[in-house]
Amino acid sequence: MLITGASQLLTLRGRVPRRGKFLADIGIIRDGALLVRDGVIAAVGTRLEVESLPESRSAEKLDLGGRVVLPGFVDSHTHLIHAASRAEEYELKIAGASYEEIARKGGGILNSVRKLRAATVETLKKRAHAALREFAAHGTTTLEAKSGYGLDVANELKILRLHKELSAEQPLDIVSTFLGAHVVPAEYRSKRGGAQQYVALLTDKLIPEVAAEQVAEFCDVFCDRGAFSVSEAKKVLEAGKQHGLAPRLHAEQLTRSGATQLAVQLGAASCDHLEQVSRADVRAVAKSNTVATLLPGCDFHLGLRKYAPARELIEAGAIVALATDYNPGTSPTMSIPMIWSLACSQLRMSPAEAIAAATINAAYSLLRDHKIGSLESGKQADIAIFDVDDYREIPYYFGVNKCWMTLKKGRPVFQKAHT
Ligand code: NIG
Ligand code: FE
Repeated sequence: MLITGASQLLTLRGRVPRRGKFLADIGIIRDGALLVRDGVIAAVGTRLEVESLPESRSAEKLDLGGRVVLPGFVDSHTHLIHAASRAEEYELKIAGASYEEIARKGGGILNSVRKLRAATVETLKKRAHAALREFAAHGTTTLEAKSGYGLDVANELKILRLHKELSAEQPLDIVSTFLGAHVVPAEYRSKRGGAQQYVALLTDKLIPEVAAEQVAEFCDVFCDRGAFSVSEAKKVLEAGKQHGLAPRLHAEQLTRSGATQLAVQLGAASCDHLEQVSRADVRAVAKSNTVATLLPGCDFHLGLRKYAPARELIEAGAIVALATDYNPGTSPTMSIPMIWSLACSQLRMSPAEAIAAATINAAYSLLRDHKIGSLESGKQADIAIFDVDDYREIPYYFGVNKCWMTLKKGRPVFQKAHT
């Protein structure tokens, strides 16, 4: 297939991962075109260059009439599988209750755990399929998905197996992460030494099973007040590492715990959130290959004013990525374009920096930068097309979905109606 007539084609080619001033390198080709063969990009260049290739003559042609082409988004942090929204808690939050207050009363993550345990695989799957269609409709072609609303052997495995089934049943790629250490489940909270026993269940039973079944690639821990301490997180992530699960961490979201420096010490693929990081944390992550994944949707949804210090992180040289954190408690959105708007207006990232963060750097954090995250020959033809003349109009029109078509491995998986 020959895709031609792009007013701007954002290739995102260049050095990987992107740090500092290179984050804004997006490799724009004006009047660009792409040749796709068997789901893989065969050529990228200006229209004249690509149209003059012999293969282009016989190719099926898609003329974009001046729209903007970019790599499909890589959403590197989601909690895809959950049973229901928590709209009732949203209203409590608006009225003044904090996320932690709601959690202490048995709401929050434990609310979602009760609902997930009661839900059948079919209901969960149906809800996830609907969400995946929304992701595709907003230009996302690969997403990471975490367990963490099961918190016992059967239910954590139920979620992780679903990641695998869903990845096979629909076109988007799902990268699975084990987040058994989301919070201590209710049945362990009433026991003395319950937290310790739950950590032992994770390290001695669940992690070995998850690894043996090959239902996850990464292991994550929510390291914060009300969740797990740095030393508990270390135990879990080290056990994961021993079983071949690469570490990621929820770090410094509500309070500064030291999780960012733990992530760096363990050589984690990513540390996520980072609203409360210290200067020393910024320096540590900047010197490392651990990606700093920012999730401004959480602060926006919770109405918090302290966003992660994106400028400081970028200027220090950290590898910055952006993701939705799609989940029912802190960030109920499937829209990377909305996150892009928040990154620009709240994190003060330029539109170019933000797009590199949500594509190539996010792909790097999922250990997939060789396959996805940029439009270069040899890479998967995962492509998002937006109905704008200039890529900066994508974050500029906040809350409006300008996605016109999404292609996964060269096949349309979303197309806007009536255009
Ligand atoms: O990334 N912080 C921990 N986990 C999620 C929230 C999960 C929930 O509230 O259900 C997050 O913000
Ligand atoms: Fe999260």
